[in-house]
Amino acid sequence: MSEKGRIQKELLLEDQLQDKLCQNILSESQEHFRVIAEYSPNMIFINRGGSVVYVNDRCVQVMGYTKEEFYADDFDFLCLIAEGSKALIRSNMYRHSQGEDFPSYEYGLVTKDGKKIDALISTKLIKFKGEGSILGIVTDITDHKELERKLQIAQHELEERVKMRTQDLVTSNYALIKTQRELYDSKHLADMGKLAATVAHELRNPLGVIKVSAYNIRKKSETPLVDKHIDKIEKKVAESEQIINELLTYARIKMPNKTKVKVYDILEECVSAAGDRFKKENILFTNDFDFAKDMEIEADPLQMKEILSNIINNACQAFCGKDDRNVEVKASQHDDGSISIVVKDNGIGIPESDIQKVFEPFFTKKSGGTGLGLSICRELVELHRGEVRIESFVGVGTKVIVKLPPEIKERTEYGKEDPDN
Ligand SMILES: Nc1ncnc2c1ncn2[C@@H]1O[C@H](COP(=O)(O)OP(=O)(O)OP(=O)(O)O)[C@@H](O)[C@H]1O
Ligand SMILES: [Mg+2]
Repeated sequence: MSEKGRIQKELLLEDQLQDKLCQNILSESQEHFRVIAEYSPNMIFINRGGSVVYVNDRCVQVMGYTKEEFYADDFDFLCLIAEGSKALIRSNMYRHSQGEDFPSYEYGLVTKDGKKIDALISTKLIKFKGEGSILGIVTDITDHKELERKLQIAQHELEERVKMRTQDLVTSNYALIKTQRELYDSKHLADMGKLAATVAHELRNPLGVIKVSAYNIRKKSETPLVDKHIDKIEKKVAESEQIINELLTYARIKMPNKTKVKVYDILEECVSAAGDRFKKENILFTNDFDFAKDMEIEADPLQMKEILSNIINNACQAFCGKDDRNVEVKASQHDDGSISIVVKDNGIGIPESDIQKVFEPFFTKKSGGTGLGLSICRELVELHRGEVRIESFVGVGTKVIVKLPPEIKERTEYGKEDPDN
């Protein structure tokens, strides 16, 4: 063999070796791709011009179509997309066709047997067999989404529970504040009671002495000028005694001594007594009792009279120069047996800023008042497990509403039931 022929043979051998090496490398990398694609837990596909040209085994397993079905000329890949995601996919396909890339996004798939799948897709523009195509990697996130939904429901439930719990706490907090206020009020009232009793006791004796002395002076002097002064002293002593009596009433608030009382009779008696007391005041009294004459509730009759007299007295003292003077006493019975008594006057009314204060002991706007009437009323009504409230408009008049239950469970202390009842 000539030298030239030998060199040509060697070059041919070398070319053949190179080809073999390239083939080995190619089939090795094909094998790598096959292993990666076929064992991937994600679905991988290639879409060229709207046709599916590659799907991995995972696509077959999850979507339920065979590879032949996927690759068939008449296979419409949009049948894989859930109705709600079709517009999104179409628009993204268009963006890809314009050379645009974008981040992963969520969409819905539908399997061959109609099962819905939540999926996350990442797509990339690639060259496949020389043509522009879309490589897609799809992750099934149905379980993850389901978990997310359950988590959201649980979170919502938790928020609702927290809301309800907070509401409960707010309610109990209000109740606590109310109880604290009541406790404070009752302690305050008890302290005031003691004070009232002490003051009344201390004043009674000196007043007695003044009264006797005034009497003696009148007897001894027998001069009209002195008599005039003695009259004044006696008048003021009588007023002071009245105040002392009220202080003592206040200090001596007792538990109600309950018995069956005819509400009609008590109301009539109180209104008629007020009519006598305020005879000169030219007041028109009206009664409107909306129940049978023999209707009874269990209450302390003396305390009931005390409550009503105090309220009616206030109504009769509320006219201050007004000519038209009406006091109306209305009473009715509710289905649960409780009764409401309303004492209404068309007097001067109470300013809004005083409404809360009128039940406080010693709050008065009257020159001769002690300011104990309404505080005694409230105390007695509460001892009867009832409620008393005031509605009033300046210049129009005042309404005092007392509600009493049909039966009174006595209390030994504030808020405690008497175990014997
Ligand atoms: N019907 C009413 N109309 C207008 N003001 C009223 C009425 N009832 C109560 N008030 C106001 O409430 C205050 C307190 O009333 P309360 O009965 O406690 O004491 P008082 O009448 O002043 O004195 P007393 O101890 O002699 O009853 C009164 O001074 C008055 O200002
Ligand atoms: Mg009064």
